Order: sequence, then structure tokens, then C-alpha cells
Amino acid sequence: MTSKLDLLEQKKAEALLGGGEKRIEAQHKKGKLTARERIHFLLDEGSFEEIGMLVTHRSTDFGLDKEQYLGDGVVTGYGTIQGRLIYVFSQDFTVFGGSLSETHAEKICKIMDLAMQNGAPVIGLNDSGGARIQEGVVSLGGYADIFYRNVRASGVIPQLSAIMGPCAGGAVYSPAITDFILMVENTSYMFVTGPNVVKTVTHEEVSSEELGGAMTHASKSGVTHFACANELEAINHIKQLLSYMPQNCEENAPAVEYSNNGSEVRPELNNVIPDNANQPYDMRDVINGVIDADSFLEVHKHFAENIVVGFARLAGRSIGIVANQPAVLAGVLDIHASTKAARFVRFCDSFNIPLLVFEDVPGFLPGTDQEWNAIITNGAKLLYAFSEATVPRITVITRKAYGGAYDVMNSKHIGADMNYAWPSAEIAVMGAKGAAEIIFKGEIAAAKDKDAKWKEKEAEYQTMFANPYRAAERGFIDEVIRPEQTREKLIRAFGMLQNKADKLPRKKHGNIPL
Ligand code: HXC
Repeated sequence: MTSKLDLLEQKKAEALLGGGEKRIEAQHKKGKLTARERIHFLLDEGSFEEIGMLVTHRSTDFGLDKEQYLGDGVVTGYGTIQGRLIYVFSQDFTVFGGSLSETHAEKICKIMDLAMQNGAPVIGLNDSGGARIQEGVVSLGGYADIFYRNVRASGVIPQLSAIMGPCAGGAVYSPAITDFILMVENTSYMFVTGPNVVKTVTHEEVSSEELGGAMTHASKSGVTHFACANELEAINHIKQLLSYMPQNCEENAPAVEYSNNGSEVRPELNNVIPDNANQPYDMRDVINGVIDADSFLEVHKHFAENIVVGFARLAGRSIGIVANQPAVLAGVLDIHASTKAARFVRFCDSFNIPLLVFEDVPGFLPGTDQEWNAIITNGAKLLYAFSEATVPRITVITRKAYGGAYDVMNSKHIGADMNYAWPSAEIAVMGAKGAAEIIFKGEIAAAKDKDAKWKEKEAEYQTMFANPYRAAERGFIDEVIRPEQTREKLIRAFGMLQNKADKLPRKKHGNIPL
């Protein structure tokens, strides 16, 4: 028996070394952790159970039968994070550059299937040269097997992707389907075709970092939700993100203990809105003034900054926040802001996370760039996402709610449960200046002093509509509240909505305008 035990230990030791000491050293030299080190930092200590440690590839072409590594370039298994079950795969760049073989794909599929059957999140730690070139179409098939499972799992269990090295070609589409992507600055990149192909096809000269690095995707394309300074920061972000989510679509997110040992009134909120309605302010001051202290985890921070989205806690319970940002482009809704918010709303709705909207929006952004790039279709995504969301939904209008944007930003008409407005709210079809120009066109043209007339009519429209009371008279606003009361009102209202049961009409699936 002793020799048999020795053989087992020998095999395990071999597997733990992946592609060998030299390649591990090279990995460290690049400032990267190994696949196993990443898992070590991600999971609760001692909780990792590995599956398929001794799997090897089945290729014989190009001399591969003589090059075998136990585990075949991916470490897979399950464990816990803050005591909650998760499944994980971590690609090992020291084995064939983490490239995906048939068996490598099978290992990933196995834990994805287990995750689906047992209702727990899947975390992918990606560090791979893509398809195992020596395997050809078998490897492509393996990718497709993963994509298929990503789609099946979408909306059933949370799926998170951390990119910690290369992720190129079709390989990018697995992370793209998952719920959140995190990238590491300077050591990770994602692109469909790399700089060399780009140079050949479009004659553009661009570095990997510029083409598909973390900040590029965090700020320009919005492909990644987080750009992290290093791998440990990315791992901590994963843990934090998971803390706001349930294990699967049948459960509610865990609540943290909350004790009310003081007043919920927040007098500082009375001073956030400037006297001049055209002056910007930072909506994060409103968000942070309302939620539990230090509980805001902003998502997509560097992308479409005219809208702010993220997770927070209110009286210990997880909520998703969508807020116009008057400090950037006056908080206008454009294509990127609409798609960013729509995707976030759909994630929250998929996983039973109530939605809180703070609204200060002058309307949709005009212009040929927006129209030709389909602000109509893209703006409709946000409208669609809110309208189909069945989770508790509350809106607070802090200042402007103009035009179609009023309807889109979780208005009562599209199913919001409670709609509050601050006394500073202005709810109207359009701004007073433009409105006066249109509806008093004749009167202004006939006046001796046209400017004075225009100003008079502008003031008239302003007095009539630039307030929350016309909407409140109609019941479109449930209550006009003092800013300082906001937190208290929201805690009570979300408590009241805790058992909300709402269902969409029976259908195969809707047809969101893509
Ligand atoms: C097999 C691979 C590999 C691959 C890297 N290696 N990529 N082996 N298949 N795809 C091996 C290398 O031979 C090397 O082996 C080791 O991994 C490390 O690679 P290096 O090149 O030395 O590392 P580095 O300089 O850091 O460069 C990393 C890299 C580069 C940028 C990823 O290796 C590279 O460009 N690889 C090819 C990428 C690619 O074209 N993949 C196919 C994309 S198409 P040794 O033995 O020396 O350690 C695709 C389609 C997917 O993926 C479609 C899905 C639908």
C-alpha cells in the first residue's frame, strides 16, 4: 500500500507544479500569480476541493503525446467565499500558455454543469493563449461547449470573469456572456484580433494595451466592468461583488446585520442641490448620503460616466442603484449610458436585487452621432429593461425629469412601485426656454421686445411645470419629500415591498431591441 500512496502523492506533486518551476518563475516575473495562487487568495482558507487534477489531453499530433501535464492547463473545482459555495476554474498559463484543449474545455464544462445543478456562482480566472493550436477544431468545439453553457446559465446563476492574462480571438466571447468582467491593468488584454492583424487589415499601429487593455475596455468600449490595479485587487473585487448577490435566481441576496441606533434623517441632503438649476453636482453625494455607510460598489465607473450604476446596501439589504450624473454631460442619456444602465437593471432583476433610481436628466442627447448610431434602439433598451423588471423598484427625482427620459427612468407608468420627488424636481416635456420658443412662437414674434417676451413666457412655463406638483396631482409622484427624509422613506418603502410578487405574461422570451 505504501508504494501506492507514494504514487498518488507523486502524481499530486507533479500536478501542483503545472508546467514546471521555470515557467512558474516566468509567470511571476511578469507580475502574475499562478492559477493555484489565484485560487488560494480567492477562496476561504482550506475550502478548495479540486476536480480533475489528473486529467491529461488526448492529442497525439505534433508530438503532443510526449508532452503531458497533469490537469491540462486548468485548475477546476469548488470551495467557499465568505462561507458560500462557488465553483471556479483557473487557467494555468504555465501549461501550453493556458490554451484550451478538448479536455481543458471538458473540465470547465463539468464544473459549470455542477454549478447549474447546485445553484451556485461560477468564477472564471482567465489566462490563456486561446485555442490549443495543435488540436484544431476540437479546441474550437470545446469553446462552443463553454459558450453554450454560459448562455444556459445566464440569469440562473451569477457568472464572473476575471481576465488575468491574454484573452483573444473567439475566447473573448465566454467572458462577454458572463455577468461581470474584471481586468487587471498592464497584464491582461482582450481583443478579437491582435495588433498584428489590425496592422495588416486596417494599417493601424496600436499596442496590445491600447487596443484591448484594462483601461481601454473600462473607459472606451465598456467591455470590462472593472479595471483593477493588480490581481489581488481583482480578487477582492470578486469577493465584494458576490456579497451583494444571491447564489442563484431562486434566492434573495444575503442581508448584513443592521441595527438602527440613531436617526435615519440626513440633513446634509438638503444642501446637495445648487440654487441654480443648471449648476452640476455629484450624484454620488446623494447616493452616499442615502445608503448604508461605505456600502457603494460602483460598476462600470469609467464608462458612460453620465450615468452611475452600482450595488449598495440599505438597512443591510442589497440594492442596485441607477442614477443620472449631472456632473457629467449634465446627466444626459446617450447610447452608452442607456446600454450600461440597461444591462445593470437586467442583472439586478435576474437575481432579485431591488432597484433604486435617482433621477436628474435633461433628456436624450441630440445629434447626428447619436441618431446614426441608433440612440433610438439603444435608448429603448433601457426602457425595455425597466419595464420588464419585476423586482421592487423605487425612483427619487432630485431635479430634472424632462421629456422621454422622464418616462424611461423608472417612471410610475412603466411599473415603478414608488416614485418620490424632492421639492427641487422639474418634471416637464422640455426645458422652459425651448418650450416657450415653440408654444409662444407667434406671441414672441409679434412682441416689440422679443427677448423680453421670450423671457416672460419662459418664466411662465417655468412656474407652471418646473416643479413636482403637477405630477404629484396626477399621482405620478407618490410623495414630494424633503431630501433629508429620503433614507427613512426608502427603508420603509423597500420594507413594504419586500414580498412583492409580480410576473411577466407567459412568453418564450421577450424581444429586447438589440
Ligand atoms: C498551444 C500555446 C498557445 C496556443 C501559447 N502557447 N499559446 N500552445 N496553443 N494557442 C504556448 C507557447 O508555445 C509556449 O510554450 C507557452 O504557451 C507560452 O507562450 P509564449 O509565446 O512563450 O508566451 P508569451 O510571449 O507571453 O506570449 C503569449 C501569447 C502568445 C501572446 C498568448 O503565446 C500567442 O500569441 N499565442 C498564440 C495565440 C493565438 O493565436 N491563439 C489562437 C487564437 S484563435 P512553451 O512550451 O514555450 O512554454 C482562438 C480561437 C478561439 O483562440 C475561437 C473560439 C471560438
